[in-house]
Amino acid sequence: MRLVLLFIGFLFLSGCKEEKKSNEGAKKSIPERAALSRDSQIFLGNRLFSEKTCITCHDINKKKIGPSIKEIMKVYKSKNGDIFAFLKGNAQPIVDTTASQVAIMQANINGFLKGISDEELKTISTYMLHVDELNPDQ
Ligand code: HEC
Repeated sequence: MRLVLLFIGFLFLSGCKEEKKSNEGAKKSIPERAALSRDSQIFLGNRLFSEKTCITCHDINKKKIGPSIKEIMKVYKSKNGDIFAFLKGNAQPIVDTTASQVAIMQANINGFLKGISDEELKTISTYMLHVDELNPDQ
């Protein structure tokens, strides 16, 4: 009798193992998404720039609470800065380094950008990088 129970127990355990294995297989088979074209990145970045409220402080052309996107990009291009690294919290600010201004922007990185994927963050930096091409000075 004890042997039979042991055998059933064994079947049960190996059954569980099997199930776990097939679950792992399912996790791995999540389909990959196709890479976004440059235009799609700009489109999505533009949309996220509104959704994540960046637009309330950063106008394209004029200074608002924060510097304009064009002003930011002028500095980033001339100093070879990395917007993605800054928004990720891995690089120091280079546009306005006044402590109170930096604190305002830092609050957004900690708040609105919390949990954003790298792919989405990249679309925001691509959008900012190309904003002057799409909105030439009048
Ligand atoms: C509440 C106002 C506010 C919001 C909202 C805001 N920013 Fe800013 N941002 C600022 C201010 C002020 C500065 C200037 C301080 C600085 O340069 O770090 C700044 C600076 C920046 C800079 C330049 C940083 C540097 O190197 O100096 C980038 C890039 C930037 N913001 C991107 C964004 C993005 C993307 C969003 C949306 C997720 C956003 N900001 C939302 C106020 C804001």
